[in-house]
Amino acid sequence: FNFNILFYLLAYLAGSIPFGLLLAKIFAKVNIKEQGSGSIGATNVLRVVKQTNPSLAKKLSIATVILDALKGTIVLLIAMAAGAGDATLWGIAVLAVLGHCYSVFLSLEGGKGVATGLGVFLVLIPIPTLIGALVWFVFGKVLKISSLSSLLGLTAVIIAALILNNGLNVGSNAPMYIIAFIVYYKHLPNIIRLIKGEEKRVI
Ligand code: G3P
Repeated sequence: FNFNILFYLLAYLAGSIPFGLLLAKIFAKVNIKEQGSGSIGATNVLRVVKQTNPSLAKKLSIATVILDALKGTIVLLIAMAAGAGDATLWGIAVLAVLGHCYSVFLSLEGGKGVATGLGVFLVLIPIPTLIGALVWFVFGKVLKISSLSSLLGLTAVIIAALILNNGLNVGSNAPMYIIAFIVYYKHLPNIIRLIKGEEKRVI
């Protein structure tokens, strides 16, 4: 029996868990799918909960980043412990991000894949990811536009991975590009707002 399929299923299901939506619902009694950008990620948790409870908003959004990142990371670590090869690990990474962005629990709606992407990239291409995280952090501090700094950070990860050729032993960069494509694609509304100068800042 090929266990890879179980890992893929687990990755998609874990990725599908909408931690931001759940935390905001449970602790702040708000539905973040119906407010702000409508996304279920940490940014929208912060944006929406902040309106009523700024200190809770910070805590919930940090918890959302960590949990959304861990859902991919944990499945990867389990698969690694079980001796899975690089191709399987990248398959798991893609499915965790896919689950977050197209959740089976939310009629295939979901988040934008930044935190979950961070979690899986950190395991598979750690150095490029740390470089990307630095880019994200610096632009985040300066611009205070979450979507733009996320996209710049992601772009930095890809460029750094290509330059350093770090960790991609599957004979193709396709899985990394697929994850990047999903994240960019989910940010299309943000990109349109950015071009129009209408993207909301998170301050
Ligand atoms: O991590 C998601 C972020 O890049 C954008 O989120 O809610 O501003 O669309 P949001």
